[in-house]
Amino acid sequence: MSYEPSPEDHFTFGLWTVGNRGRDPFGHETRPALDPVESVQRLGGLGAYGVSFHDDDLIPPGSSASQREDILKRFRAALDETGMRVPMSTTNLFSHPVFKDGAFTANDPKIRRHALRKTLNAIDLGAELGASVFVMWGGREGVESDAAKDIPAALDCYAEAVNACCAYITERGYEMEIALEPKPNEPRGNLLLPTVGHALAFIHELEFPEMVGLNPEFAHETMSGLSFHHAVAQVLWADKLFHIDLNGQVPGKYDQDFRFGSEGVKDAFYLVKLLEDSEWDGMRHFDAHAYRTENVDGVWDFARGCMRTYLILKEKAERFAEDADIQEALAAAKVDQLSLPTLPEDGEDRFTKLRKETVDIDALAAVGWGHERLDQLVTELLLGTR
Ligand code: GCO
Ligand code: MN
Ligand code: MN
Repeated sequence: MSYEPSPEDHFTFGLWTVGNRGRDPFGHETRPALDPVESVQRLGGLGAYGVSFHDDDLIPPGSSASQREDILKRFRAALDETGMRVPMSTTNLFSHPVFKDGAFTANDPKIRRHALRKTLNAIDLGAELGASVFVMWGGREGVESDAAKDIPAALDCYAEAVNACCAYITERGYEMEIALEPKPNEPRGNLLLPTVGHALAFIHELEFPEMVGLNPEFAHETMSGLSFHHAVAQVLWADKLFHIDLNGQVPGKYDQDFRFGSEGVKDAFYLVKLLEDSEWDGMRHFDAHAYRTENVDGVWDFARGCMRTYLILKEKAERFAEDADIQEALAAAKVDQLSLPTLPEDGEDRFTKLRKETVDIDALAAVGWGHERLDQLVTELLLGTR
């Protein structure tokens, strides 16, 4: 196996990921700015399918209409020349100080309206470049001092903004869906829609729930100490996986956004297995960046590494399915029996039948399920000894 990525693998990167300059809360940039055109060319050369961006990553704030056109012309030419696509776009509602109290949920309605105008423009930009998913990450939708934010009222405002964007997309006739991205905290002390579960529940309160799904991120669920693979499984189960952000993260730490698979490799394995087994056809989008220690060469090592690790884990998932010992251990654990119905077949007497069945609960309780053996087998598969 060469683990060489190709466009059929559907790997995409945000312009802000390879373009990350290594700034952190304690230190300045360690890398020069990267031209979006160069990002497209380099990523295309590495076998990626496409790129995503925030409005401001591509069109610097304050650009005139003619500057916007020039940038788009150059960018489009790079896309045409490489065959790269723009499957997703988004907007930056977190960098400018005007958003320090939030954007869609800022207490001041003038700021909320400004955020909405910026988002509608970003939706137009995404549509112009063919994006079919618009991600909404509420970077500043949150608070530090709880006295300062009425949370139910803020959720009303959040829903109003998402509803307005759905109405706009429909009125313009764009083929676009919205993907909400949950995150527990950072940069705010607490963020609204902190986990996949909160976001899924929020969607059901919206006016156009069918147009809104999720963009779960490995780092964000892991920060909360939750299993990313479980979260994504539930999103798939709810038919709401519109997009995904892949990276690496240690539980309980700041949002690390490390190279995919560099941390949490077992969760990453089960995630890849889940995506591949379910034949999910969306973009495998990397929202991560190179360590601050790296120069530009390290950035491309980082990008290659994300894709390569995905492909290695994909191959491990295939071997998992073919490994006789693993299959035997799965059978011993009765994994496939979850798909059997629990209740006796439908009918008015099903509860009577259910009650009639007798079981030896002591014998059932005495069964060992062999999870130690199974997990060791998977661990050895991942460590390369099988
Ligand atoms: C983060 C987020 C962002 C978003 C991006 C797209 O923690 O910084 O993951 O990278 O994904 O802004 O909305
Ligand atoms: Mn993140
Ligand atoms: Mn993200």
